[in-house]
Amino acid sequence: MNLFLQTCDLQPTPRRPVWIMRQAGRYLPEYRAVRQRHSFKEMVTNPELCVELSLQPIRRYGLDAAIVFSDILVVLEALGVSYKIVEGHGPVLERAVGSATELERLSSAAVPDQLDYVYAALGLLRRELSPEVALLGFAGAPWTLACYLVAGGSSSNGFAAIKSLLETDPALLHTMLERLTAAALEHLQAQLAAGADAVQIFDSWAGNLTEQQFREFSLPYLHRMAAELQGQRAIFYLKGAAQWLTADEAAPFRILSVDGQQPLARYRQVLGDQVVLQGNLAPGILTTDAVTIQRATRAVLESHGPGAGHIFNLGHGITPDVPPRHVQVMLDSVRDYDLVPVT
Ligand code: CP3
Repeated sequence: MNLFLQTCDLQPTPRRPVWIMRQAGRYLPEYRAVRQRHSFKEMVTNPELCVELSLQPIRRYGLDAAIVFSDILVVLEALGVSYKIVEGHGPVLERAVGSATELERLSSAAVPDQLDYVYAALGLLRRELSPEVALLGFAGAPWTLACYLVAGGSSSNGFAAIKSLLETDPALLHTMLERLTAAALEHLQAQLAAGADAVQIFDSWAGNLTEQQFREFSLPYLHRMAAELQGQRAIFYLKGAAQWLTADEAAPFRILSVDGQQPLARYRQVLGDQVVLQGNLAPGILTTDAVTIQRATRAVLESHGPGAGHIFNLGHGITPDVPPRHVQVMLDSVRDYDLVPVT
């Protein structure tokens, strides 16, 4: 039985499926051992290393879903703007894109032609994983990709450049968002074709917009992606923005990944029972102690209640300072809890 896929399809399961956003990463000693020998770029572009890194958290914890080891920035690279990850700083792009001329200079080559290594890794992973473990692909949401593209990488000033572009030349920003929507969709479709059972769209910076700006510069593009991915399993992660959605706005998403802004019960109350919810333990809890982790994990499970349609996860990515044994405490609490009687 594949608990993750059943839950995506709103079928009852004997326990909640669980995986962890950013589950392959620096909190794992086995990740750091590989990272010591390779640059981030080498790890992402080498399918064998990718497979190894994607499997590390599955081997250690037996999670219900594996996510391909990659980055949202690969799509920008496919558009002709390469990136590197600078230790202690984050992503840095080869150049920033903030004018019409710069936007026109983006590559018009088909995105999937540039990202073979991701699809190769997915194909290998699907063969390695047992049928009970779901395989996820992913992409950045148009707004979040645009944040990095306009800033030229990570930002120390809250992505001020795109915030002014949004005021001074909204038409240009919309042209950019159209372009990024098409590119991300091409990459997601290719990942599904290569063996991904589901995909996640990360709008990690949605909450950096006001509610009104979110409705203009992010939501319409997410809805377009949901429409294009209809019939496929697509999880939409809207960090800092899911609490603004009405039931009608959320309905096209089918699977919504939420942060810790509100308890799951509140999301259920507003959104009804036809949307699968993923989340939403605050990642900071994992730095505390076993008793606190158990209590907070149970609170998340209880907040959702016994019905079908809950994928347990964090509200955001796991951080490098989390002791791996604390993750095990969380997982034991999820696995020991409830469960929904299967009829
Ligand atoms: O295990 C997994 O979840 C798969 C791998 C994955 C990575 N990045 C690997 C990575 C995923 C799903 C991502 C998505 C991603 N990348 C997002 C959206 C998710 C989120 O956390 O909001 C964003 C915004 C990025 C862009 C990005 N890449 C940032 C901001 C950073 C630096 C932050 C950090 O953790 O250092 C990266 C680098 C990166 N991507 C690392 C990893 C494991 C760390 C690289 C290292 O080892 O130095």
